[in-house]
Amino acid sequence: MHAPDVVLGIETSCDETAAALLVAGSRGRPPELASLVILSQDVHKVFGGVVPELASRAHLTALPPVVDRALAEAGLAWSAVDAVAVTQGPGLLGALLVGVAYAKGLAYAGGRALIGVHHMEGHLFAPALEDPDLAPPFVALLVSGGHTLLLDVPEWGRYRLLGQTRDDAAGEAFDKVATLLGLGYPGGPEIERLAREGDPGRFTFPRPLLDTGLDFSFSGLKTAVLRAVRASDDPARDRPHFARAFQDAVLDVLVTKLERAVRAAGHRTAVLGGGVACSRALSALAAERLRGAARVAVASPRLNADNAAMIARAGWFHLERGELSDWTLDARADLPLPGLAAAPHAPTSHTPTA
Ligand code: KG4
Ligand code: ZN
Repeated sequence: MHAPDVVLGIETSCDETAAALLVAGSRGRPPELASLVILSQDVHKVFGGVVPELASRAHLTALPPVVDRALAEAGLAWSAVDAVAVTQGPGLLGALLVGVAYAKGLAYAGGRALIGVHHMEGHLFAPALEDPDLAPPFVALLVSGGHTLLLDVPEWGRYRLLGQTRDDAAGEAFDKVATLLGLGYPGGPEIERLAREGDPGRFTFPRPLLDTGLDFSFSGLKTAVLRAVRASDDPARDRPHFARAFQDAVLDVLVTKLERAVRAAGHRTAVLGGGVACSRALSALAAERLRGAARVAVASPRLNADNAAMIARAGWFHLERGELSDWTLDARADLPLPGLAAAPHAPTSHTPTA
């Protein structure tokens, strides 16, 4: 197809049901966001984590009204939509299936184009929604509840894996440490809030793999926090200090590797994306350490957390290149990132399975 005029984005990979409308910019400018509706499934809070079966059922009831609302907020009728972009994976299979089946139904019945999008490629495109001039080459650090990816991006659609986590994802570490500190789900925002009251000098946690390559490891750090909590004579008093020391350790590792990758590549731009990039502490530390070397591009929190605008934006990119999905499109919990090649000079890296 030619460049689209209006794309409907749908995201249901985890516990946010989201729809967004993206419309063509004037005079060949990049597309603009016309509406974004995100319904967060609160039901999981009482379980301290996402319950997959409940997530699928909630998407099923929420998705049609969320799409209708996104159209209404954009002031657009369904007839104006050229194409539907939907998260194909990775994520919870049952949750993904709801979005993919719905998107296929809409597109097939209406004779519209369909494009399946990789969730992390969506996160990568999020900053471009607010910063239309953002352009490769750059290094991207994508940090979410399921992934920690360091990518070299020579051009949109072509990615070289520089590093990834060997165990827990960065967001997963925030969530697990929040649970052991007795905080709610999701843990990242709670830890960031509590860490502001913490004394940075009270505890120091290890920085796993800090001096080695570009891969990450967070599971040992989680164990170190657990040991410190058990050893404390007053864990309630120490909670803000644990939160601060843990956050400082994670951010130090993330930003040290980002800086190493940016300096090695010689790029003048670094992109932060994914739910953990909602952390103001992360973007502030990255900007401080990269000052003079590269500018740090990061979307606002609403576009870094799971949303459908980023899916529509990544879908738009593929549609413009004539890349469409066919009616065999299926949800895949372990979808590999399209356009990904392992960097030949990064011997510790391997292709991610999720
Ligand atoms: O991208 P995302 O919304 O969902 C996934 O694709 O997984 O990322 C969610 C993750 C959660 O682990 C959450 O704790 C983390 O992002 N997160 C944060 C912050 N806000 C969200 N982590 C650290 N600091 C934050 N302020
Ligand atoms: Zn995400």
